[in-house]
Amino acid sequence: MAEIIIKSNENEAAELVADFFFKQIETNPKLVLGLATGSTPLKVYELLAEKIKRSNIDVKSLQGFSLDEYVGIDFAHPESYHSIIDNHVTKPMGLDPAKVNVPNGNYETIISAGPDYEKAIAAAGGIDIQILGIGTDGHIGFNEPGSSLASRTRIKTLTEQTRIDNSRFFNSLDEVPTHCITQGIGTIMQAKHLILMAFGESKAEAIAQSVEGGISSFWPASALQMHPRATVVIDEACSSKLKNAQYYKWAFEHKPTWQGL
Ligand code: PGA
Repeated sequence: MAEIIIKSNENEAAELVADFFFKQIETNPKLVLGLATGSTPLKVYELLAEKIKRSNIDVKSLQGFSLDEYVGIDFAHPESYHSIIDNHVTKPMGLDPAKVNVPNGNYETIISAGPDYEKAIAAAGGIDIQILGIGTDGHIGFNEPGSSLASRTRIKTLTEQTRIDNSRFFNSLDEVPTHCITQGIGTIMQAKHLILMAFGESKAEAIAQSVEGGISSFWPASALQMHPRATVVIDEACSSKLKNAQYYKWAFEHKPTWQGL
C-alpha cells in the first residue's frame, strides 16, 4: 500500500513535499514533473519557487505535464488550467514554458488530444514524480468514480459534485465547464512516484476509502494501492477516518533513514 504521512497541518505537509521536490530537482535537473491544479498543491508550488530562486539552480531543462484541463475553456481564462499552471508553476519557478504541458481542451481537436498527450509524455521518458490532489468523491485528475483503472488521457464528463466543488472558482455553477480532458488512471499509474496530498475533514472519507478500502473504480484514488511507490501526505483533520492512523505515524517516525520522503 501507499506510505501514509500525517502532518499536524497543511503548512508542515507542504514544507515536506516542497523539500522533497527540491532535492529531486537538485539531483536531476532533467526531472519530468507531474503537476496538479486545484488548491491543494499551491503551497508546495509557492515554497518550491522560493527554494529555486534562493538557490539559483538551473531549471531550464525541467519538464512538466499537468493532469487535466477543462474542455472548451479559453486558454487565457483565469481558471483555465493553462493559466493556473502558468501563474503558479511556470512563471514563479522560472521554467521554460515550451517544456510545460497541459492537455489541450480545444473542442476542434479533442478526439486526438488524448493520444497526442500520451505520446508527448512517452517522448519525455515518462513522468518521474506526479503530485496529486483528490476530490471529495475520490477522483484523481478528473477521473470521476466509475473511471476505468486502466484509462488513458481522454475527454470525460464532470460530475455534478465536482462542478459544485469547483464553482467557488467561477462566478456561478453555470459557468463551470461540463467536460474535461484528463490523464487516465492508467496514465497516472505509470509515473514513477506518486505523491497524493489532501487536507481537511472534507477529504477524510475519500482518503479512508482510497487507502484502507477495497480497490474500486468507484474510489479512483484506490488505484494507488497497486502503485509500487505511492506516498499520501495528509493533515490530522484528513486522517480522522483512517483506522490505522496511529500505526502510520509510528511507521513514519521509525522509517529507515535511507527512505526519501
Ligand atoms: P482541491 O481539488 O485541491 O481544490 O481540493 C482537488 C481535486 O479536485 O482533485
